[in-house]
Amino acid sequence: MSSRSVLDEVTGERFLWGTATSAFQIEGAAFEDGKGPSIWDDFTRVPGAVRNGHTADVACGHYHRWREDVALMKRIGVNAYRFSVSWPRVRPGGIGKVNQKGLDFYSRLVDALLDASIEPCVTLYHWDLPRELYRRGGWRNREIADWFAEYTAVLGRTLGDRVRIWMTINEPQMVIGLGYGEGRHAPGERAGLRDRTAMVNNLLLAHGRAVQALRASAPEPVAVGLAPHVLGKIPASDSPEDVRAAHQAMFEQPERSEISNALFSDPVLLGRFPEASVAARGPAGEELRENDLSVIAAPTDFVALNIYGGAVVRSGAEGEPEEVPHGPNVGLTSFKWPVTPESLYWGMRFFQERYRVPILISENGMSNNDWVHEDGAVHDPQRIDFLQRYLEQLERARRDGIDCRGYFHWSLLDNFEWGEGYTQRFGLVYVDFETQERIPKDSAHFYRDFIASRR
Ligand code: FCB
Repeated sequence: MSSRSVLDEVTGERFLWGTATSAFQIEGAAFEDGKGPSIWDDFTRVPGAVRNGHTADVACGHYHRWREDVALMKRIGVNAYRFSVSWPRVRPGGIGKVNQKGLDFYSRLVDALLDASIEPCVTLYHWDLPRELYRRGGWRNREIADWFAEYTAVLGRTLGDRVRIWMTINEPQMVIGLGYGEGRHAPGERAGLRDRTAMVNNLLLAHGRAVQALRASAPEPVAVGLAPHVLGKIPASDSPEDVRAAHQAMFEQPERSEISNALFSDPVLLGRFPEASVAARGPAGEELRENDLSVIAAPTDFVALNIYGGAVVRSGAEGEPEEVPHGPNVGLTSFKWPVTPESLYWGMRFFQERYRVPILISENGMSNNDWVHEDGAVHDPQRIDFLQRYLEQLERARRDGIDCRGYFHWSLLDNFEWGEGYTQRFGLVYVDFETQERIPKDSAHFYRDFIASRR
């Protein structure tokens, strides 16, 4: 069976309605059962790096409460769940010894999901690089492509008989752009452009090698794709000029930044780098070796998109894209991210037009100032409204023939939101971080009813 037909097999009869999480943000048990330290464990200990000095040592305690969390998902009625595997939990030093207890954890989780009729969808890398590999140069070291491929093969062999949907790297833009450009994420560096360009190449190569390693190691055919962040662009009107301008803005490569829609997706899905990045990045870009691009562009089965919002763009006087600032009435999440439902529609549409591969929405959601009300429930009308509006755009896209196969709401649980610690709540389920009690919010009930109505 070809891998594309694996995706068809999984999504042929049903749309995937899911939720998403990542290992570091929910698992906790940071130093238990043989798990090795990651760059994020270290970063949370840097004074001032994370709001309030929060760490993810305990987080949602999911490592111990996974059964309860699977049961919650079953109650919500999702038929898919996207989670990530912690590289240092499976290989504490990044390479070498495998930690069987870590592998067993994911294996049990996968079994429990399948028992609950929930399709397990695995992300291989969601930012928690093993400390030891960082010491060896991390993304700077070309060998990371080998390390990542070896780690991937361990998972392919162990979980590949049951997991059919895989995502390689979550938001490569943030890995390099925030971790090594702005320094807001682990490891908190501010590296130069040349250095970062080498990292971009190594990351892309690691992605490609992982795709190959997964297909070679999994006992059953699998479907795999990259999971980039989408910086949405919304045409100011439906006029062809504005649509063209928004499309152009979407894939215009900022010269010096990794926070881009094209920098990672073009090489992976088109087999070439955007011209502007080649022009700006000079010699480091030339460090790519022969055949690297064919590895980077190893065929994938879908692209997984994380879409939260976007900017409005119109066609300027000369026909060039011009950003229109959001008006004073735009809704804002607690993060102050503008609520722009159409970013979901246009993000999918522009990606489909450029890359022509099936799409999964691997993340979409909002942080809200949720607390437990006097009646003991968590009322989050903003999130319900957000869901309603974004899901409407999702359905509009599907009606317009966009080949979208699934939607994963970020997130199942309130969790550790990176540099913001626990101050940004994204969950459909509220987590009391002192007692670990879980309370499904009103939005969880809404999502349950919505999914049921689409069955
Ligand atoms: C994305 C990340 C995810 C989460 C959401 C809010 O950029 O992939 O881990 O933090 O943002």
